[in-house]
Amino acid sequence: MSEILKVISLTKHFKSSVGIVHAVDDISFSIEEGKTIGLVGESGSGKSTTGHMIAGIYPPTRGKIIFDGVDISVDANKRPLSVKKKIGMVFQDPSTSLNPRQTIEDIISLPLKVHMRITNYAEMRKTVRELLEKVQLPPDFMNRYPRDLGGGERQLVAIARALASEPTLIILDEPTSALDVSVQAKIITTLLKLQKEMGLTYIFITHDLSLMRNVADKVAIMYLGKIYEMADTQNFFEEPLHPYTMMLISSIPTLTDEEEKIKPRGIESLGEIPSAVNPPKGCRFHTRCPFAREECKTNEPKGEKIDGGRIVFCHFWREIKYKLTTNAPEKI
Ligand SMILES: Nc1ncnc2c1ncn2[C@@H]1O[C@H](COP(=O)(O)OP(=O)(O)OP(=O)(O)O)[C@@H](O)[C@H]1O
Ligand SMILES: [Mg+2]
Repeated sequence: MSEILKVISLTKHFKSSVGIVHAVDDISFSIEEGKTIGLVGESGSGKSTTGHMIAGIYPPTRGKIIFDGVDISVDANKRPLSVKKKIGMVFQDPSTSLNPRQTIEDIISLPLKVHMRITNYAEMRKTVRELLEKVQLPPDFMNRYPRDLGGGERQLVAIARALASEPTLIILDEPTSALDVSVQAKIITTLLKLQKEMGLTYIFITHDLSLMRNVADKVAIMYLGKIYEMADTQNFFEEPLHPYTMMLISSIPTLTDEEEKIKPRGIESLGEIPSAVNPPKGCRFHTRCPFAREECKTNEPKGEKIDGGRIVFCHFWREIKYKLTTNAPEKI
């Protein structure tokens, strides 16, 4: 398997009236072609900012984005069209990401004109029809406006639009969280089917960790602009290593006895998420970590690589894990 995307020390700082927002700070990861990486974290952890930099909405402050072997981090505006068309993006809320004054045909045909250079009207309509079919929407939706469609259908249109330029990588930023639960499963099923058929690579951004079990091959946990743990999905759920991951997993409702058995216990978070302006020194999670010690307040943890392509950023993960699995205390 070849790596389609490699992100190295990616960083984004925003200037704001209250100071510098450390939205994303020195994160690195890679994705193999045809696979899905899940970026998971609470609100403000830098998930969307990461997606936006990769999609070229704005350039990184520092770091590199290597796509298909090409460095695309220089300046988002300077990306060649041949690269731009290969990276698609689907946003959280289709009611704001689709222009209400355009028909579905207009919406989907724009990337066909720009990226696929289709100028022939009959060919354009045929391609729009095929794209609607791909996402399992009826062809006559072409003549409708976004307001005529339900939320799930609108999101399928946004997916069809993202597919129009024949991308290989699609960034899905909370693609189901603005939708009714009843249509969420349909969107996920369609995305998985498209991935299989077309060999697409996904960056799936969500705050819903449980969704990752069915969707992602690999999960990266973000907190205040940093990745704190990354692992293959199965390892990740069966044996979380970072106390923050344990905290997140222990708050997911379990479906089976097996899941209940392996769920970490005795871990509870303390307090609120700090601001991304002046984030805590040392480990950014230390203000909420029940196991934090002096070292955590001053020294930033380095990533420790573990078997199976895992990486964890915590000074004391071994001890914490040992404590939690051997004593099984109510609280530490
Ligand atoms: N354009 C911007 N200017 C200033 N600050 C920003 C900007 N975009 C994002 N931020 C800040 O950067 C941090 C990370 O934001 P981001 O939107 O990437 O988080 P997120 O993980 O996607 O959160 P959510 O789950 O709420 O979507 C936040 O503190 C946010 O307020
Ligand atoms: Mg976001």
